[in-house]
Amino acid sequence: MSAGLSRAPLSGADWFAVEFDPATQEVVMLDQRLLPGEVRYHRYRKPDEVADAIRGMVVRGAPAIGIAAAYALAMVARDEKSDARMFLVANGTAGRFVNATRPTAVNLAWAIARMSRRAGDVAELAPEARYQGMLEEAEAIHREDVASCKRMGELGAADVPDGAVVLTHCNAGALATGGYGTALGVIRAAHAQGKNVRVLAGETRPYLQGARLTAWELHQDGIPVEVITDNMAGHFFQKGEIQFVVVGSDRIAANSDIANKIGTYPLAVLSNQHDVPFTVAAPWSTVDLRTPSGADIPIEERSRDEVARIGGATLVPEGIPCRHPAFDITPARLVDAIYTERGVIRPKIGERPDVLMG
Ligand code: MRU
Repeated sequence: MSAGLSRAPLSGADWFAVEFDPATQEVVMLDQRLLPGEVRYHRYRKPDEVADAIRGMVVRGAPAIGIAAAYALAMVARDEKSDARMFLVANGTAGRFVNATRPTAVNLAWAIARMSRRAGDVAELAPEARYQGMLEEAEAIHREDVASCKRMGELGAADVPDGAVVLTHCNAGALATGGYGTALGVIRAAHAQGKNVRVLAGETRPYLQGARLTAWELHQDGIPVEVITDNMAGHFFQKGEIQFVVVGSDRIAANSDIANKIGTYPLAVLSNQHDVPFTVAAPWSTVDLRTPSGADIPIEERSRDEVARIGGATLVPEGIPCRHPAFDITPARLVDAIYTERGVIRPKIGERPDVLMG
């Protein structure tokens, strides 16, 4: 499944969601729409192509789309060789275009803002130095994301009981990040510590990130995983077969409410009903202190057809509308822990992200 990259991937594994190839100056992405049936990498040379790939779900997952956006802005610097003002205009235009692709995951806006600050710093340099500065910033975002995943993985793994069956939702793994994963980072770290963990992966209708992606990547690492349909979770809680829940997040509000893939909130309700810890793993780039509460987080609405069709099959009669909110909000009062690279937030006892700003 080689991507033909000219250097070792920053992901730390021999496969990855998104990388930059310095030899060809292209963004390389694993096409997540095709998994698990086919492992195929695409190469993108233009920022607009990266935006289309984000919108079209070639790459997805909050940190991974932020990294893809950062590399897109490095490509703007590669191509815009005129004066500082034109470079900043091009950077701003591309940033707004990429940012409009997906509204809920704040990592996208965070990465674009960070790249734009760097653009301001390098604007007066010669074009090649500008490009190198922007690429260095994008690679730093990528490297820091992998390091963050490893740190939050260690913190979260300390709470995972030995012998636990761990339920997760969607894909918050290496495929959703720069590498290693957030929720799956917690599971990877527990496994690496010698804890005997088994994973239940909810299939995650309608896009099936759990069935297709989480199962695929845990299998690559030899971590035991079973897939359930989303409507089976209550049954397994009731039978006492789930000891721990860990999910990722697309945005964490200032009051510790969290947005994550649609279907996360009912799992939090079930966890609380059955006294099973409900936890979240996310990098600090997912924390949005300017959003007061979950009610203020924009929820992406995706197309009817992603609900009405699967593969080539039609599931819903033609002409019948479908609803497709892509994320839901889990209130802070249902969340036992949020693991970040800065430390752990315990929302149920009233902690908010600002406890980690010292
Ligand atoms: O629509 P997606 O696949 O981009 O949604 C992804 C999720 O909801 C993940 O759980 C979240 O981004 C955390 S990824 C580390």
